[in-house]
Amino acid sequence: MTPSFYDFPDTFPDRQLLTADGVLTKGQMRYFNPKSDHILNRFDGLEGYLRRRLEAGVFSHRMQVVGDPGTRATVRDLAGREFTGINLSTVDYMGLSDHPKIKNAARRTLDTSRLHSVNTGPLLGNSPESGALETWMARHMGHEFGMLFPTGWAASFSGVAALARPGDHVLIDEYAHQSLKQGANAACDSVIKFRHLDNSEVANRLVALRKADPDAGVLVVTEGLYSMDGDAPDIRELLQICKDHRAALLVDICHDLGCTGPRGTGTLGLQGILGDPDLIVVGAFSKAFATNGGFLTTSNLGVIFAAYCFAGPYTYSTSLSPMQISIAQTGLEIAAGPEGAARRAKLEANIAATRGRAAEHGILAYGAPSPIVSLHVGSEKIARLACARAFRNGLVTTILEYPVVSRGKARFRLSMSPEHDEAVLIAAVDIIAESIDWARAYQAEIDAGADALSLEPAE
Ligand SMILES: Cc1ncc(COP(=O)(O)O)c(C=O)c1O
Repeated sequence: MTPSFYDFPDTFPDRQLLTADGVLTKGQMRYFNPKSDHILNRFDGLEGYLRRRLEAGVFSHRMQVVGDPGTRATVRDLAGREFTGINLSTVDYMGLSDHPKIKNAARRTLDTSRLHSVNTGPLLGNSPESGALETWMARHMGHEFGMLFPTGWAASFSGVAALARPGDHVLIDEYAHQSLKQGANAACDSVIKFRHLDNSEVANRLVALRKADPDAGVLVVTEGLYSMDGDAPDIRELLQICKDHRAALLVDICHDLGCTGPRGTGTLGLQGILGDPDLIVVGAFSKAFATNGGFLTTSNLGVIFAAYCFAGPYTYSTSLSPMQISIAQTGLEIAAGPEGAARRAKLEANIAATRGRAAEHGILAYGAPSPIVSLHVGSEKIARLACARAFRNGLVTTILEYPVVSRGKARFRLSMSPEHDEAVLIAAVDIIAESIDWARAYQAEIDAGADALSLEPAE
């Protein structure tokens, strides 16, 4: 076994360890001291907090995946403890990450190309294959021009940062991904959040902005599918609102590309607005196409040049490797063809089975059916206990809690794939339901101040 930072035995649930300072009750930022005059000392409190959570067995971040994660996985925490179970934490929405055709394409590329791309985009980092993928991606989105980025983060950040300039305004959904928010903050001072999916607030704000600052540019930013709540905006309506007020609209389709819509064109395809000239699209290959990488599409060549000039992660970062390009291209083609349609149908059935079983247990599934199934827990304490329990009962999964989602809305986030069997998904939801019930009962005993907790540890 590889050495870990810490070496704690697995004593979960240990009441003394679980009730130590902050283990169940506080978030990590409470222990970060930004005021210390020595930058390295700012983390002293945080280190102790993370150590306490790890010792108590309720720290599931930064785990390592041991071996090849498939529908089952083995993970190792920072204390070296290993857990094996049904894997619902790997983001592989179309189940393509072990696809023989894609692996063969990667092998062929490996045999005929260098491992690495030679440079950044502006300095010979492009090839006929990367150019073909840019064009394919653009056509798929109904646009004329495409541009590749080293990651999805780079594409999303750059799309916003390249378009808005100082003096402009960015109107952004409050739940938009950090890459988009940081791109907006890098671009201009006026970054205005609007309520999640609230098109009428966008319309009102655009009226006010146009009145107060008629000459400034305005960029509205949203996503095709939100990965925390699994919900989607009415983009068709939002686009019309943007047109009415001469605002540009950028949509990040990271989570819906491949998984929904005709030929896997996602929410834009479903809503019939592919190729609209006022849309700028960004997205990633990492969620459904088995490789890192991001893209931007547009029908405005000026946008491509803006990204050359102002998008640091394109201009100053080494381009995708030949193998990543070949993986993305093959995966996209599969998703757009008949096999993609069959995979989407199986994915849909799996999503329905998972949400249906959750409903039978009385557990709320957030949003609409999508490859992200978020199951409500509520209290952060209960979520941490329940997640630790689920790991020990044979489920590899993740929880989300504040500040990634609102306070008191902690949840299990399950990543769906067509590779799972429905029976396995039902077993996974049963583990979650049992873990939540167990965590509530355990917490009630802690709250009651019982001396010896009677509840059994996980088998
Ligand atoms: C909406 C959105 N944009 C961009 C990214 C970053 O993508 P990548 O992990 O491919 O860099 C993510 C990642 O989860 C995301 O959810």
